[in-house]
Amino acid sequence: MKEKILEIKQQLDAEQASDLKQVDEVRVKYLGKSGLVTGLMKELGALPNEEKPLMGKEINVLKMAVQDKIDALTASFESDELDSRMQEEWLDVTLPVGAKKIGKKHPLNLILDKICDIFIGMGFNVVHGPEVETDYYNFEALNIPKDHPARDTQDSFYITENTLLRTQTSPVQIRVMEETKPPIRIIAPGRVYRSDAVDSTHSPLFHQIEGLVVDKNITMANLKGCLNSFVKALYGEKVKTRFRPHHFQFTEPSAEMDIACPKCDGKGCNVCKGEGWIEILGCGMVHRNVLSEVDIDPDVYSGFAFGMGLERIAMKDLGVNDLRLFFENDVRFLQQF
Ligand code: DAH
Repeated sequence: MKEKILEIKQQLDAEQASDLKQVDEVRVKYLGKSGLVTGLMKELGALPNEEKPLMGKEINVLKMAVQDKIDALTASFESDELDSRMQEEWLDVTLPVGAKKIGKKHPLNLILDKICDIFIGMGFNVVHGPEVETDYYNFEALNIPKDHPARDTQDSFYITENTLLRTQTSPVQIRVMEETKPPIRIIAPGRVYRSDAVDSTHSPLFHQIEGLVVDKNITMANLKGCLNSFVKALYGEKVKTRFRPHHFQFTEPSAEMDIACPKCDGKGCNVCKGEGWIEILGCGMVHRNVLSEVDIDPDVYSGFAFGMGLERIAMKDLGVNDLRLFFENDVRFLQQF
């Protein structure tokens, strides 16, 4: 047995391996179930009792030598592996860092900022009103009494019998005129709500920008001059506009303002759906009843008002054909602006 041990030891000393897999083969060869050292242990049982302790000890020494050999071989490969990983993952810490992605303004806010800037440039103040309104401000003070058919055009979300989510930004006109005496020159942007089914041009939540000017001697000429200047600032000097008679309860006379389709210039094409013109806002001279309601004497003062939909203008401006994109906030969409 002694010779056998010596022989195995010599064999062990000569073992070599070129990767971790071969190291494992060495382990199996000596220490596996039918390995050389394992075999010696089995033979130990057959030896005479007096030889057992000495041989047992020798086998243990051999077993330890095997383990040392395996450890040595493994260590060399592990450090090789580490070296090659270090090579692969080499990193130049002196390089400048890449630009970080930062958040930016929502496209609706970009357009809103542009619109506000234009009106601020014309001497308007930007004001805000509450989104939860009373029936009085949203309708009644705007010359839309209870049961008036004009209410049907604005399907409302009522909260109680007398409070609702505002359906338009026009109630801000009343709040401003209650608080401030003329001259008044404000715009009031904000969210409005209507119980509309969602499709590519409708959403139960959207945004309007209200405008109001009240002073002595304000006429329809001021309205047209102001809104023409606004549209030129937004779309360029060359844009053509027209005013069409319309009806709103809180203005008299009332009008809708159109711009000539930028693609076909009024001839009619697929962008304007053959119309030639695109409606961009409602407007008119503030109704006498509205001025009287807030104790502004309609025989001394007059004013004009206007209201426009932000999404509609943004869709046109940015070439977006589905309003839902503004609210879904898919980063791939938002990143484009
Ligand atoms: N509030 C109206 C609407 O939601 C829009 C509007 C039209 C506002 C004419 C005005 C105006 O101030 O003068 O349909």
